Order: sequence, then structure tokens, then C-alpha cells
Amino acid sequence: MTVEESQLNPIHALYEPYPLTSRYPKDRTPWISSFEQYKAMHDQSINEPDVFWRLRASELVEFDTPFHTVCSGSLGEGNVKWFEGGKLNISYNCVDRWAEKTPDAVAIIYEADQPGGAKSVTYKELLDQVSRVAGVFKSFGLEKGDTVAIYMPMVPEAAITMLACTRLGLVHNVVFAGFSAHSLAERIRDSNAKAVVTSDQGLRGGKIIHNKKIVDEALLTCSSVTKVLVFERTGAEVPMQQGRDVSWSKALSEQNEFVPPVFVDSEDPMFILYTSGSTGKPKGLLHTTAGYLVGVAMTTKYTFDLGKDDVFCCSADIGWITGHSYGVYGPLSLGVTTVIFESVPNYPDASRFWKTVDEHKITQFYTAPTAIRSLRRLGDDFVNCTDLSSLRLIASVGEPINPEAWVWYKSVVGKDLCPVVDTYWQTENGSHLITPLPFATTTKPGSATFPMFGIEPAILDPNTGEELTGPNVKGVLCIKKPWPSIARSILGDHDRYLTTYMHAYKGVYFTGDAARRDEDGYYWISGRVDDVINVSGHRMSTAEIESAIIQNESVAESAVVGIEDEITGQSICAFVTLQAGLKESDQIKKSIIATVRTEIGPIATPKNLILVNELPKTRSGKIIRRILRKVASGEADQLGDLSTMSDPSLLAPLVEKCCRWV
Ligand code: WTA
Repeated sequence: MTVEESQLNPIHALYEPYPLTSRYPKDRTPWISSFEQYKAMHDQSINEPDVFWRLRASELVEFDTPFHTVCSGSLGEGNVKWFEGGKLNISYNCVDRWAEKTPDAVAIIYEADQPGGAKSVTYKELLDQVSRVAGVFKSFGLEKGDTVAIYMPMVPEAAITMLACTRLGLVHNVVFAGFSAHSLAERIRDSNAKAVVTSDQGLRGGKIIHNKKIVDEALLTCSSVTKVLVFERTGAEVPMQQGRDVSWSKALSEQNEFVPPVFVDSEDPMFILYTSGSTGKPKGLLHTTAGYLVGVAMTTKYTFDLGKDDVFCCSADIGWITGHSYGVYGPLSLGVTTVIFESVPNYPDASRFWKTVDEHKITQFYTAPTAIRSLRRLGDDFVNCTDLSSLRLIASVGEPINPEAWVWYKSVVGKDLCPVVDTYWQTENGSHLITPLPFATTTKPGSATFPMFGIEPAILDPNTGEELTGPNVKGVLCIKKPWPSIARSILGDHDRYLTTYMHAYKGVYFTGDAARRDEDGYYWISGRVDDVINVSGHRMSTAEIESAIIQNESVAESAVVGIEDEITGQSICAFVTLQAGLKESDQIKKSIIATVRTEIGPIATPKNLILVNELPKTRSGKIIRRILRKVASGEADQLGDLSTMSDPSLLAPLVEKCCRWV
């Protein structure tokens, strides 16, 4: 393709940063308004990190006691520390200081599941609520360092609970309220949580989710929990266990003393968040206080050009890192308004996001490629019946965004007036690693573009570990220098932290993703190189799903692979062999699916479940997933080297079976 042709094809075009349009507030200029400014700041962040981060920390965060050392330790040793000597409080930074300065400014807009049910919480009201919940926690006897599990719907009270934890130096462990009782229990036990905060029920897309019931079931196997605080979301009658379960409304109304923030050390634990790795056991990533807050505040400010009077909406659930960093802590640490969206993009119809934007005059909107792709498929009318003129930036996160969806987002949702910001990062990172800056970076659809401040990426040869320098290289993506919001450990398993991230390649952090750097130095993330699959932006390990499937008594063996999916990015395809003597039936298939839903939750439901007589294996007995992936993707003609396969005669029936549905 010639340069002219590529410019004509919107998915191959370069998009220069927009000049400020009439949508841009008259009394502001962008934080970063040219690529030169970005380059100068990025250079400083790499060459003089102490100067750069000292400036950011003092600009964005209030310390009660100043720190003496900006950064110590190294990635290779896995002992990084930031802002040592400092004392601060997260909830003070996100709530109190704004309640003093701008008490009537709106902190949270709650877009309830049912349209028309929106509510706002001002910073003054937020402080009152956070202090009350902190008071309830104190009455439970919780003390600094104790862990609280949170299993809540997307309501302001979820954010209030997180802030109440950080107010007292309690460590929160938010578990996505779509996980099963079994998964919740595993995460409660692993984190040794002393209390759980939940709701009677949840509502999503008009459907009721029985949160309290799931918590009750989970707690049957968790002896560490002595108190459960139950927020009344729907007001349904739910069984309350005497002495253990406490009503949110009652407990909060009984609080009549202001609870001051407890100042903690910069490196004190702030939260744990579980994510999937290559093995069956989820990892509890541990984030600490000052580095996390500085990293998140800095990226929220610059990536989204967020400032005074903005209304920011991140559609991610608080059960994921995106909800933590950009739904709660980022916007609130900057004193702006965050929108908590309880519903789903297609309820009651596919205009829901856009009507929400109009209703609350949202200025920056942040969602996942899977939502963009599925809304695109339903046609432009659902967008065009809304106004969207408040929007001045649209952003994406969670998985690679295909150029077609990027261009649709930009033209149909953004009306060619909003920069598209594709942010690449992970639970482990706390905040953005690679992202365009809206008024500085020339974008290419599908590329996350350039590193964020403080991030020095490297592409390594996966086999030799050698750094591939220069343009036009492909390999595994690593980061060379520590940044403030990197997770410090895996709870209870620092060795796993070291082996997974720090020792895979010498002296650098290994992301687990493959990437390419093109001729202009742009980064293109192509996806995971480990056994993690990404379905609609939800990270799951194949091993985790396999160990759920194997719990079903009919199952002998299983192998799970991720295959490409037009809407969800990847989908789960499970190959299963049955116990001897059992015959394939719809009933068995249904029961296997039910097992996965009970063991992990509905998000892990395989889209395709294929019962086979035998799985392809090497002579040493290892399942060859590569073959399964190819066959399931309809690429049985490209199986590559089969010399290691112990019984090649298995192939024909396998292919035949898959052809029936591919
Ligand atoms: C993928 C979500 C391409 C990647 C914040 C990463 C992306 C995993 C992008 C982390 C993006 C996230 N482009 N891939 N913009 N953002 N990913 O921990 O594979 O839930 O390793 O964090 O999602 O998922 P996690």
C-alpha cells in the first residue's frame, strides 16, 4: 500500500492531535499540549526520576509528613519502595481536602440500573458517609492493617466503603460481584479478611443478583470473618445472622462522631486485588499507599486531560483495577466528578451509555473495546439519537482495540471531535503504562502509541531475553525501570511475584504481553503470551477454568484455549474427555457448564464446549494446546510441526468434531 492509499483508508491513517474545538473549556488549556512537551517530560521522568516524581507528588498529593526518599530498590530484586518516610491518608486526599475547598462540588454521580434513578453525592456528603462507615468499622474492632472484603454492586456505597477502609489504614479486597461463592470464599480466605461489606441484592440490566446469599454461602468456609455489613440496595428481605450481620442504614445512622483519617506510611498496604495468572490459583496483588496514589492521580490528570468542572465516567466495575484507579481514586484525588454506572451498555437499549453521557454532561468517557465492538454491531442509530456534545475525550482499556472499532468510536461516538485514547496497562501496574496523550500524540488506530511518564518499555527476544532495539521489532514487552504504582508483591507468595514478573527476564518487569514497535516507534500490543485469556476485558487463566471443569464428576480431563472472537476479543473454548463409560449428552454438557459457573462465576462460561474421546498429547503426556487452538479456530490446515504428538490418528476425529460448529 502506498502512503497516499494508507492515508485514504481510515484504519491505516495517522490522526494528528486535534486543535482545541469549541467543546474545550474557554478558561483552560490542556495539561500537555504538544508532543515536544510530552517528550521533554518523559525524558525527565526517565533521566531524572527523582526530580520528576518529587514534583508530581507535591503537585498531586498532600503528605502529612514529607517523604525523604523518592525511590529505592530495584525491579530485579523485587523490593521497590516509593516516597519512604512519608505519611499520608488516601481518603483525606480523595475526600477531606475537597470537602474543605469545594464542599458542594459533586464527587459522585450514580447512574442507577433503572434509567431515571440517578443521584449525586457532593464532597461534603461523601466525607460524612465515609466517616460514618469508618466509624462502623471501628465499632467492629477493625484496626490498621486488617483486611475487609468488598462484594458490592456498582453503587456509590462501594466507593464509600473503599474510602472508609483507606481512612483507617484497612486493606480492602474488592471481589467482583459476579464471582461465585466459591471464588469469593477463596479470596476471603487467602486475604484473611475480618469483615465483608456487601448488599442485600444487586441489579444489573434489570436482573437481580443475590449478593448476600452468595456471601452467606461463601462464609460457610471462611472462619476469619466476624462481621458483615449489608447495604440495602433493593430493600429485599435477606436473612441476617445475629451478631455477625449488620444493616448499613441502621449502623450508619447510629454514628455521631466524626472519624479523622489515620495517617499511614507511604509503603503501608492499601489494597489487594486478585487477578488471574498462568496457574489455577488467582494472585492477590498487593498495592501500597503513596506510590499508588501518585501514579493514579498523575495518569488520570494527563491521560484524560482531567481538570476543574470535568465529569469523568469510567464504565469498568470496581471489582477490576480500572474501577479502582479510574472509577474511584484517580478522579476523586483530583477533586472532580466521577460517574458510577451500575447498568450494562444495552439496558434498556443500546443507547444507554450515550443517554447517560447526555444526562450527566459527561466530558471524558472510558470503556472497553468489547463494549465498543458490540455497540458498533448494533448500528449507528443508537448513537445518533443522542447528542453527545458534552464529550471531549473518549478512551479505551482492557484489550487490544481493533482499528475498525477505534475508527467507529472516533467518528460515530466522538463525531471526529474527541481524541481517542487507548490505554494499555494491567492490574499489576496500578496505572497506565502506554497511552497517547489527547492533545499531544498523533494516533494510529489500534496502537496504544507511546510510554506514559516514568515508563521505559523494552521489547525482548522471548528466547534469548536480548533487548531488540530500534524500530520494526516484535517480542515480549517488559519495563526497565520501577514506577510508583507497581504492585509490590503477591499476597503470601513473594516468590511467585519474583518468578512471574521480575525473574522471567533479567532486571526488568515482564508484562506477559507480546508487542511490536513499528517504524515510527509506536507500540502495538498483540496480547498475552502466557496461559491467560482475555474475554471482554476479563482476565482468566486457562488453568483456572480447567480446574473448575475437572470438579464435575463426569469429567476425566480438560484443556481450555482462548480463540479469537469478533465481539469479546477472545472466547473460551473447552475440550473435555469424559470418565470411562459415559456417553456425550446435552445433560452432561449443561452440568459441566453449571460446574464452571458455580466454581468461578458466569464470566468463565465456555462459549464452546467440545467433548472428545482423547486430547492431543506429546509423547511425554503434555496436552498440545496449540493444536486445539488451531483446530478450534478453523485453522486445521495450519497445524505446523506434529512430530511431538504421540498419536496423530486423533487429529481427524478432532477436526471433524470441530468442523460441526466452526
Ligand atoms: C490486556 C486491565 C491491548 C493486556 C487494565 C494486559 C490491553 C491485560 C490493553 C491486563 C490495551 C489491557 N491494549 N491490551 N489498551 N489494556 N490489555 O490486569 O493483555 O485486567 O496484560 O488490567 O489486558 O488486564 P487487567
